[in-house]
Amino acid sequence: MKPKVYLAARLPQEAEAYLQEHCHVNKWEGKQAITKTQLIEEAKEAEGILLTGIAVDDELLEQLPQLRVVSNMSVGYNNFDLDVMKRRGIIGTHTPFVLDATVADLVFALILSVSRRIAELDRFVRAGGWVKGSDADLFGTDVHHATLGIIGMGRIGEAIAARGKRGFDMDVVYHNRSRKPDAESQLGIRYLELDELLAQSDFVVLMTPLTEETRGYIGREAFAKMKRSAFFINASRGQTVDEEALIEALQSGEIAGAGLDVFAQEPVSPDNPLLKMDQVVLVPHIGSATAATRFDMAMLAARNLAGALNGTGDIHIVKELQP
Ligand code: DGY
Repeated sequence: MKPKVYLAARLPQEAEAYLQEHCHVNKWEGKQAITKTQLIEEAKEAEGILLTGIAVDDELLEQLPQLRVVSNMSVGYNNFDLDVMKRRGIIGTHTPFVLDATVADLVFALILSVSRRIAELDRFVRAGGWVKGSDADLFGTDVHHATLGIIGMGRIGEAIAARGKRGFDMDVVYHNRSRKPDAESQLGIRYLELDELLAQSDFVVLMTPLTEETRGYIGREAFAKMKRSAFFINASRGQTVDEEALIEALQSGEIAGAGLDVFAQEPVSPDNPLLKMDQVVLVPHIGSATAATRFDMAMLAARNLAGALNGTGDIHIVKELQP
């Protein structure tokens, strides 16, 4: 008998067809994203769930007694309560590799956009502000040959470093829990202690996953150590930063600007002060959001789900839950 699965996220036809071949599929048909309460009602019989963003914790698992596998359609898995999943023997999978280059591209889009004021000047042109005369008011900051500091040197960090080094001749420095000698020699990047990285970098890019150790990792003290001319980029998770401290640092001119793909609260609240700041570029958590990459992530999440339930294939179990 095919295992029962529930799709809490919308999948492309090919990924759904793949799952239909290997599993008995039920899915969320609602127009809005499914809530946790709805998922609990809908997935009572499911042995596997494919989802994105919903907290997989004791409350959920307690009410889904058949559940054996949760397939996250994202590389980040801060929605997994790892201790609870381990205790209950739940397999948790995610979608690494396929989005590395796409997220690295977005980080560069943010770097270029804040430093050359692309979003701000786009608004300026549309508003009819462009008149002939001196353009000194429109000057930005060079990216090429600047110092790029990357906090979190995983696969995405390496893809960002490669772009900085090879595409923009940047001096690339990094900080990570452990040093990466291979990346250092292959990419020509340098390891720095966090304080040194903050003090030296023209662009500080935060790429660390959200864990209990990295929650609020960049806060008041960190912003105080950055150059006043520095730009801060976050494409990891909103909670890795103390957002109030970021707002203060921007308001007081302690840093020059920010490019943000992620926020403490998503979708971002309309009264968030960041929305009013011209020196900030905001995008709605689109790091992996290209059609090709989201297709690959969906296929990988589908393969992970079917593979984990049927004991077949090469699946991507998150490292803390690996047997
Ligand atoms: C992920 O997969 O964790 C990314 O945040 C998606 O953009």
